[in-house]
Amino acid sequence: MKILHSGRRCYNATMKVAFFSTRTYDRQFFNRINVDYNHDITFLEAPLSGLTASLARGFDAVCVFVNDHVDQETIQALASGGVKVIALRCAGFNNVDLKSATEQNMKVVRVPAYSPHAVAEHAVALILTLNRKTHKAYNRVREGNFALDGLVGFDLYQRIVGVIGMGRIGAVFAEIMTGFGCRVLAYDPLQIDQDSKSANPRIEFCELNRIYEQSDIISLHCPLTPESKHMINEEVILKMKPGVVLINTSRGPIIDTPAVIRGLKQGIIGALGIDVYEQEEELFFADHSSDVLLDDDIARLLTFPNVLITGHQAFFTENALREIAHVTLENLRKIEAGEEPTNLVRT
Ligand code: NAI
Repeated sequence: MKILHSGRRCYNATMKVAFFSTRTYDRQFFNRINVDYNHDITFLEAPLSGLTASLARGFDAVCVFVNDHVDQETIQALASGGVKVIALRCAGFNNVDLKSATEQNMKVVRVPAYSPHAVAEHAVALILTLNRKTHKAYNRVREGNFALDGLVGFDLYQRIVGVIGMGRIGAVFAEIMTGFGCRVLAYDPLQIDQDSKSANPRIEFCELNRIYEQSDIISLHCPLTPESKHMINEEVILKMKPGVVLINTSRGPIIDTPAVIRGLKQGIIGALGIDVYEQEEELFFADHSSDVLLDDDIARLLTFPNVLITGHQAFFTENALREIAHVTLENLRKIEAGEEPTNLVRT
C-alpha cells in the first residue's frame, strides 16, 4: 500500500473480479475508484444466473446487483469455477441463497449503507410529484396549456406519514417529512421491542395497524424477508384511509401488486409511487421502449393517472455511486488481505 502526498491510499490488490449486470455508469464509477485499488476487473453486461455463471470461471470473485440470480444452482456453478467471493454492490441481499454460499465456503459481502439520503429523498420526490402533479404540469406548459384543472394537491403540513421500517433510510425519510410539518407514525420490529421513543417529538413509534388506519401517506423502508413479502395485501389495504398515498422504494414483492391495483380501482389508494416492482428483473435497467409489454400488471399500473413508476433509481446519485464503488472494492481488498471484512453477510 502506498500513501500519496494527498493522503490518498493506493493498494496493489490483484483480485480477479467478474462484474455482472454492468451499465456505463457502473464502469465509470468503478474504474475511477479502482485507480486506488488495482483489482483486476472484467465488466460484463449479462446478468448472473445459473446460465451465465460459467462466465466467471477462473475469477476469484463476482460482483452482482439487485436482480442477479444468486441461487443454489448459480452458487454451485460459481464454486466449481473457483469463485470464492460474492460481492453485492447494493444493500439488499434477498437474491442470494446464503445457505448455499456457506455450504460452498463462499464469502458474501455487501454495501450496507451508501447513501440513505439518496433513497429517502427519492421517496420524497415521488410524494411531491404525485401530490402536486409536477410531471403533468411540465408537459402541459410545454404544449402551451396553462390550465390548472386536475392539478390540485394537498398541503403536507400536519398530515400523518406512516413509515414502515425505521432503519437507515426510514429514519432519514421520517426526519425529512417532519421538516414539512408532518407527524410521523413509525413501525419497526426492533424499535417496538425496546418500547423506543424518538428524539424527534414529531416521530412516534406504534403498531402496524395504527399506521394503516391513520396515515395519509405510507412509505415502505423495510427489507424483503419472508415476513415482509406481500405485507401490503388485500386485507391491509382495506384498513387504510381512503385516498392514502402509498410509496415503495424498498423491494417490489413487499407489495401484492394485483391487490394494490384493486385498491387503486376502488379509490382506497389515492396515489401510488413505486421505484421497485415485483417482476422488475424482466424490465428494469434496460430499454424496452421498442418491445411489446408482456407484463399485464405493470401495463395496468401504467394506465392510472395517479401512479408514478421509476425504474429502481432511488439509489442513483453521484454520492451513492461513489460510495458503492469504494465500499465494494474495499470489501474485496480486505478479503484478499485476509482481514475480517466488516460488511460480511452472515446466515
Ligand atoms: P436497514 O437495515 O438500515 O433498515 C431496515 C429496517 O427495517 C430495520 O430497522 C429492520 O428492523 C426493519 N424491518 C425488518 N423487517 C421489518 C418488517 N417486517 N416490518 C417493518 N420493519 C422491518 O436498511 P436500509 O438501508 O434502511 O434499507 C431498507 C431497504 O431499502 C433495503 O432492504 C432495500 O430493500 C431498500 N433499498 C432500496 C434502494 C433503491 O434504490 N430503491 C436502495 C437501497 C436500499
